[in-house]
Amino acid sequence: MEFLAYRVKKVDEKFVGKVEQINANDLPQGDVLIKVAYSSLNYKDGLSAVGNPGVTRKFPHIPGIDAAGVVAESTSPKFKPGDEVIVTGYDLGMNTDGGFAQYCRVPVGWVVPLPKGLSLKESMIFGTAGFTAGLCVHQLIHNGLSPDKGPVLVTGATGGVGSIAVAILAKLGFHVTASTGKSEQHEFLKQIGAKEIISREDAQVETSKPLLKEQWAGVVEAVGGKTMEHVIRTTKYMGSIASCGLVGGPDFVTNVFPFILRGVNLLGVDSVQCPMNLRLAIWEKLSSQWKPDNLEILVSTITLDGLDAAIKQILQGKIKGRTLVEPR
Ligand SMILES: NC(=O)c1ccc[n+]([C@@H]2O[C@H](COP(=O)([O-])OP(=O)(O)OC[C@H]3O[C@@H](n4cnc5c(N)ncnc54)[C@H](OP(=O)(O)O)[C@@H]3O)[C@@H](O)[C@H]2O)c1
Repeated sequence: MEFLAYRVKKVDEKFVGKVEQINANDLPQGDVLIKVAYSSLNYKDGLSAVGNPGVTRKFPHIPGIDAAGVVAESTSPKFKPGDEVIVTGYDLGMNTDGGFAQYCRVPVGWVVPLPKGLSLKESMIFGTAGFTAGLCVHQLIHNGLSPDKGPVLVTGATGGVGSIAVAILAKLGFHVTASTGKSEQHEFLKQIGAKEIISREDAQVETSKPLLKEQWAGVVEAVGGKTMEHVIRTTKYMGSIASCGLVGGPDFVTNVFPFILRGVNLLGVDSVQCPMNLRLAIWEKLSSQWKPDNLEILVSTITLDGLDAAIKQILQGKIKGRTLVEPR
């Protein structure tokens, strides 16, 4: 069987992506062959497509850490042809060919049945970014955050993780402050539920002071670096920070005072190896109580041909909301 895929090859030390015809025999071994209805673009796909060795070492390679579609073949009794399924994370799109193709083949342990309250399209409007936003919200609530505790800051707010986090938190009645580098997107952030907006610079203040004025009951922190340094110093007594991203850099300098004087919780979030029981619980929430009413305004749609341009944009931090990929 032949089908289309966006495949990246290493040519003269450069990484070049191209839509080409490939054969199902070229896909990796696995239990479940999925006819992909939608994938989505995440920051990590950008890194994979430009050969970041922390993400992908094996080329030629089909990126795409997300896929949703219909089971075409299954050697596992857990799934049968026709079942609607989601795959996000694990090794998909990293060193295993991913969702930027009309078919993908994966181990059965990676496959999540599509929850009742979601369409395949909606599941990929969430995709890994939305699932990660869900994990952040779960971690914050699990550690005591509630709307009466005060404002919640979302950093990198117009990005994939950020925009879905804003929308979920607003739906749950939190007072959301969005930090963004895109002054032209304030209206978009308000539309999806932000009550206040601060600039990226205001969430990055550099200081040698160990503590700053308490502001946030909770933080969804998708940026890292100087932004993390700021939010650790400004989180309220017993507040929590869910750390999930590094677009602003992986390193940060801190001190123990926010932790030992304010009881601030720094919580890690990993969507890749997230255990299946928690994974299913988060998808269930995303399909019901946490599902934003305005999912469609978060998304723009491209086909495989649009990936080159969209990958450049996401690597420059220029994407707004989520980018759905229809593998046509
Ligand atoms: N832990 C996990 O399991 C997990 C899962 C998914 C994603 N992630 C990570 O989370 C981060 C966000 O992913 P995403 O898919 O949402 O990416 P994205 O759509 O590109 O969003 C990132 C946003 O961060 C802001 N930004 C970009 N460059 C920046 C810079 N140099 N300094 C400060 N802010 C910057 C921009 O928003 P504004 O213009 O609004 O500021 C940008 O839209 C990435 O680091 C990704 O690797 C982690």
